[in-house]
Amino acid sequence: MAGSHSFHPPIDRETTGMKKQFVIVLVVALATLGSLAFVQAQNGQETADDPDDPAAYIGPEGQPIAFPHDRHAGDMQIDCQYCHFSVERSSSAGIPPVATCMGCHQFVSGSENPEEVARLVDFWERREAIPWNRIYRVADHVVFPHMRHISGGVECAECHGVVEEMGVIQEVNQPLTMGWCLNCHMEQGATRDCTACHY
Ligand code: HEC
Ligand code: HEC
Ligand code: HEC
Ligand code: HEC
Ligand code: HEC
Repeated sequence: MAGSHSFHPPIDRETTGMKKQFVIVLVVALATLGSLAFVQAQNGQETADDPDDPAAYIGPEGQPIAFPHDRHAGDMQIDCQYCHFSVERSSSAGIPPVATCMGCHQFVSGSENPEEVARLVDFWERREAIPWNRIYRVADHVVFPHMRHISGGVECAECHGVVEEMGVIQEVNQPLTMGWCLNCHMEQGATRDCTACHY
């Protein structure tokens, strides 16, 4: 064991201000489900191209499930880091495993778009990861450390727009050019050293 921090669920520090008590209660269940879900995340992608597999479905929003950020992060005020669990401590923000969703959707079947929640439950029952389509991605020769930006006080919205108001993720600041990075680095006094961003 690495030490006393090792078994904390990923969002413990950031959830203290969260308004919904029930979310905090769920953390206990999620800690148990978490390890299973990470195994899923590694194995789930392979069948996504099979035409007979429901995992190959992509809706009009460009995603396998129409996940509404506005309702979760806006109306319900779930903290970004409840789902994007590694944004504060790693380069990648992290995409939530199915278990994070099922903590609630075991009990919530959806009143407006129940078929979307049914698709979620299908993934869970098949023990497959959801093959979300990635929107933000820098070129392979570029280093982008989320944690440095979060600890530097840069808000998610400065780069991704006001996600809590988006029904579907919008492609803000795309494509991600070097000029975009450097403009902000100049304005905010961050590094312009080539090797900070390039291997
Ligand atoms: C903290 C609890 C919680 C978590 C975690 C959560 N949801 Fe939800 N979700 C809800 C609630 C509550 C609703 C609103 C249901 C309603 O209006 O009937 C909802 C609505 C939805 C809807 C729209 C359903 C409808 O009928 O409008 C979808 C799709 C959905 N969630 C998918 C997900 C996915 C995918 C995840 C994981 C990435 C997730 N949810 C995580 C609580 C949660
Ligand atoms: C209940 C879980 C949940 C919460 C809360 C949540 N997200 Fe997400 N987020 C997801 C899921 C699932 C996806 C992948 C599907 C999609 O793109 O809509 C995603 C995708 C994204 C993406 C696009 C990633 C990419 O490149 O494909 C961004 C940016 C993002 N979220 C930012 C945020 C921000 C900012 C907040 C807080 C204001 C937030 N999210 C809150 C679950 C969540
Ligand atoms: C300074 C700009 C910036 C800020 C601030 C920022 N992001 Fe990002 N985000 C990016 C870039 C650039 C990428 C693509 C990174 C890559 O390809 O490695 C990205 C990718 C993502 C992704 C895709 C999946 C992943 O694992 O990286 C998610 C989800 C995401 N961001 C969520 C968030 C959330 C939530 C916050 C706030 C807590 C946030 N981001 C803050 C620029 C930013
Ligand atoms: C909205 C403003 C903003 C944007 C856009 C932005 N950054 Fe940053 N970045 C910062 C700030 C501010 C810091 C300094 C944080 C600190 O040191 O406290 C930083 C720090 C960094 C660091 C760490 C530098 C070091 O000293 O080691 C890297 C690497 C980095 N950014 C890469 C990128 C890349 C790559 C992009 C574009 C894909 C990008 N950033 C876009 C604001 C931004
Ligand atoms: C703050 C981060 C950052 C810094 C500092 C930075 N770059 Fe970049 N650079 C990027 C990003 C992001 C891209 C990718 C742009 C794209 O894919 O369109 C890029 C692309 C490039 C490319 C183009 C490669 C291609 O795909 O066409 C070259 C060459 C390059 N950078 C050289 C440099 C040099 C030389 C320096 C120092 C003077 C530097 N960069 C400093 C972020 C940075």
